[in-house]
Amino acid sequence: MATNKLAALVVLVAFLAGPAACEGINICLNFNGWLKPSILDPLFCPRGSGPPVPSPSGSGLSYGYYNTRCPTAEKIIKDAVKKAVDENPGIGAGLIRLFFHDCFVRGCDASVLLNTTNSQNSDTEREGLPNKDSLRGFEVIDEAKTAIEAACNNTVSCADIVAFAARDASYFLSNGSINIRMPGGRYDGRESFANETDQLPGPFSNVAQLQASFAAKGLTSDEMVTLSGAHTIGRARCMFFSSRFSEMDPAYAAKLRAQCNGNGNTNVNQDDVTSNVLDKQYYQNVLDNKVLFASDAVLNSTVTRAQVTENADKAGEWERKFEKAMEKMGKIKGDQQGLEIRKVCWRVNNVGLY
Ligand code: HEM
Ligand SMILES: *[C@@H]1O[C@H](CO)[C@@H](O)[C@H](O)[C@H]1NC(C)=O
Ligand SMILES: *[C@@H]1O[C@H](CO)[C@@H](O)[C@H](O)[C@H]1NC(C)=O
Ligand SMILES: *[C@@H]1O[C@H](CO)[C@@H](O)[C@H](O)[C@H]1NC(C)=O
Ligand SMILES: *[C@@H]1O[C@H](CO)[C@@H](O)[C@H](O)[C@H]1NC(C)=O
Ligand SMILES: *[C@@H]1O[C@H](CO)[C@@H](O)[C@H](O)[C@H]1NC(C)=O
Repeated sequence: MATNKLAALVVLVAFLAGPAACEGINICLNFNGWLKPSILDPLFCPRGSGPPVPSPSGSGLSYGYYNTRCPTAEKIIKDAVKKAVDENPGIGAGLIRLFFHDCFVRGCDASVLLNTTNSQNSDTEREGLPNKDSLRGFEVIDEAKTAIEAACNNTVSCADIVAFAARDASYFLSNGSINIRMPGGRYDGRESFANETDQLPGPFSNVAQLQASFAAKGLTSDEMVTLSGAHTIGRARCMFFSSRFSEMDPAYAAKLRAQCNGNGNTNVNQDDVTSNVLDKQYYQNVLDNKVLFASDAVLNSTVTRAQVTENADKAGEWERKFEKAMEKMGKIKGDQQGLEIRKVCWRVNNVGLY
């Protein structure tokens, strides 16, 4: 949906509903589950039919892609990730999420890292609602990139650095029990638009919306359930779940309520049991009603419940599924393929020349 159409819709809804219903960020548009739905939402704010998205194919990617091209690259990334995760496990969570948010928007092309493109005065993905004041780990990517450019310049894409960093963060945070086979060979894109981050599912999404947003990227419902298990690490802001305290386990809700203390910007741990370990605890939390978002809780619905209980119960099963699903997520392609190997991960090459 074009921006001007969105704007017209907001104005229309504001006109029909009066100022109280559509003020500030509480516009009736639900932004794919990122804004708490208002009762007007189904009437006035249907989700626009976005551009068609090709399914993951992964052609062009291969394992050990840099073994001959830049033999030290993967080691440099691993060392940078290890150092960061040892200091703060939350950065590892940030790196895993960075990969998800990169791949879901324009495919895995490092568009999520850009804050400088040739599209003048246009906000990049980093400014989008799901990303702003939230994504972290950029400095790890930048540090690895600088060291890699010094070792072998113009060879390793930022998109591959993001993918390898997510793999390595998964390994360290799982204490070595998650080993993702991650191919390389991606290229970096030259565009990044904040408005396209509405393709990311939001915390207020229901199960059908979650399935649809993953299906749009070629991922199955089971893979959606599997990848949601990443909410066993990292943090989240109270604004995304404080409306559902009454639906949670009462003791858990009371603890969260105290932590949030009325401030929507406060961060809390997503997994209260094993906060910094990438493990299957998330699925037990779903069954125990001790998860934060509506989008987590709805996985207990009839269509996905069997997978949740299986992941919670069977040792090792979720870990293997997570490895495969992360690899598949790394093969999502956008309409445009990556075009270059950036020199600096947060800006396109030759800014201003094209
Ligand atoms: C299923 C749909 C999903 C929804 C609705 C969702 C939503 C969210 C939200 C709202 C946050 C908190 C952001 C904030 O408060 O600033 C978050 C955090 C996080 N998400 Fe998701 N997410 C989803 C899937 C995923 C997937 C597929 C992954 C990775 C495989 C992932 C990894 C993470 C991680 C690691 C964090 C914590 C980040 C940090 O601590 O910096 N999420 N997610
Ligand atoms: C997103 O924003 C860009 C830049 O402002 C604009 O050119 C594009 O048309 C917008 N896309 C949609 C789908 O609104
Ligand atoms: C862009 O982000 C990087 C970090 O990835 C930061 O160092 C740089 O100052 C930012 N530049 C602009 C123009 O915001
Ligand atoms: C990088 O590559 C270019 C072209 O291949 C070369 O001219 C340059 O000396 C290399 N080194 C640095 C540090 O830029
Ligand atoms: C991590 O693994 C090592 C050896 O594989 C084991 O000794 C250690 O207890 C594990 N740590 C955690 C936190 O599970
Ligand atoms: C999950 O769904 C089952 C079956 O409908 C129900 O009995 C159970 O109470 C639900 N659990 C939670 C935490 O909502």
